[in-house]
Amino acid sequence: MFQLKTKFPENFLWGGATAANQLEGGSDVGGKGLSVSDVYIFDENTPKEHWADQWHLMTHRQVEEAQDPTSKKYYPKRHGVDFYHHYKEDIALFAEMGFKCFRMSLAWTRIFPNGDELEPNEVGLAFYDSVFDELKKYGIEPIVSLSHYEMPLHLATEYGGWVNRKLIDFYVRFATTVFNRYKDKVKYWMTFNEINCVKHHPYVSLGVVEENHPHIEQAKFQGAHHQFVASALATKACKESNPEAKVGCMISYQLLVPYSCDPDDIQKTVEKQRESLFFSDVQARGYYPAYTARMLADKNVILEVEPKDEQIMREYPVDYVSFSYYMSSAISAHPEKLEGAVGNLITGGIKNPYLPTSDWGWQIDPKGLRTALNQLFDRYQKPLFIAENGLGAMDVVEEGDLIQDDYRISYLRDHIKQIKEAITDGVNVFGYTSWGCIDMISASTNQTSKRYGYIYVDQDDMGRGTKRRIKKKSFHWYKNVITSNGEEL
Ligand code: BG6
Repeated sequence: MFQLKTKFPENFLWGGATAANQLEGGSDVGGKGLSVSDVYIFDENTPKEHWADQWHLMTHRQVEEAQDPTSKKYYPKRHGVDFYHHYKEDIALFAEMGFKCFRMSLAWTRIFPNGDELEPNEVGLAFYDSVFDELKKYGIEPIVSLSHYEMPLHLATEYGGWVNRKLIDFYVRFATTVFNRYKDKVKYWMTFNEINCVKHHPYVSLGVVEENHPHIEQAKFQGAHHQFVASALATKACKESNPEAKVGCMISYQLLVPYSCDPDDIQKTVEKQRESLFFSDVQARGYYPAYTARMLADKNVILEVEPKDEQIMREYPVDYVSFSYYMSSAISAHPEKLEGAVGNLITGGIKNPYLPTSDWGWQIDPKGLRTALNQLFDRYQKPLFIAENGLGAMDVVEEGDLIQDDYRISYLRDHIKQIKEAITDGVNVFGYTSWGCIDMISASTNQTSKRYGYIYVDQDDMGRGTKRRIKKKSFHWYKNVITSNGEEL
């Protein structure tokens, strides 16, 4: 009756993950419009500690300057690593590693350049047809995010972003267009990447220019509500187009642990963890959890919800839950009393003295991935998909094109071991796509030199370089992991 699982399932989806805005480039071809991510600058003369500033806060002045065709600044996400022109070569390399799947996103702005057009841009649609056909040639299953930090800039500047209810219709039109177009090519969809990150960067997630915003918490939750409704309507459209298709939510999973056994730390951790899992609670269950009323009241947020919203959310919860996992963080109710405690902007927590950190201060906690898988499966009883995991690091190319990224192999190996543990715990996880299987532009810092890939791209932070692709040591290691279905790590 009880069968102990000690191996990865036969059909486990091994692969890598990317996002159009960080990968594709080609922003000036095929009629693509500007997205919110296309207006971040990178300036090598800016001190490092300020590189992520625009990720958290974007000003109207910066947005206007970026739209000025005479601006001389460098906008890395307009260029990515030029997958737009290299996709055949890149997919061939993924196939060489034995990828079973490839997580990618669609640039909304390739298909609806401004977001509010009535008809899609055929050139944009045709580009993704070619990408899907190329993947199919190698038997690689596409896993497609509809929105990965990518909404049309026009919807942010002209409509105020997701706070405006009109965004639901624009998104559903985009979603319905691509579901119908690719119904024979794509089976797995995700509606919004890291939907719970509206809390950290409302500009890039919601199109809200935060500067002097009168009530930013209200904007974040109202915007998120509109995304919940849009996601449910998109799920409905997807099922109508292809009843076999699977739609998932995607959250940034942040394992938060109490800094101490002080009851205040424990309660604070429960509250913080709920704030993060709130988003998957809504999307996986199809309704707002019981703790919502108090959470919103504490933030002085009054949500505008139409009766039909609740109905559609209940009728169309997601089929599976996907998440990114990079790190964990410790939570203290009184961080100001802890001498030398280092804060983490992303998790809102502080450093856990038991864990090492990456060069960017991200705490490396492989066992936390097992906890994450168990917690999410206990909570939702739905299939899980690990959509992102990986180590951002500076790689060095040695003579003979050698890139010895043992640190990356070690990070990934330790995490994959914990996935296997979770499978033995009884968790249903059906795939793993490590982040940035090919080097891309970093989402938060806009660097190219914060690299995650198995494939190196010869390009520096200012976009200089040949864009030549080079296999790292981890390329060969991951190929063996896939060939042995996770037995040889
Ligand atoms: C996730 C995002 O938060 O983390 C990706 O979905 C991002 O877009 C990844 O690239 C790693 O973050 P960063 O800032 O190191 O690129």
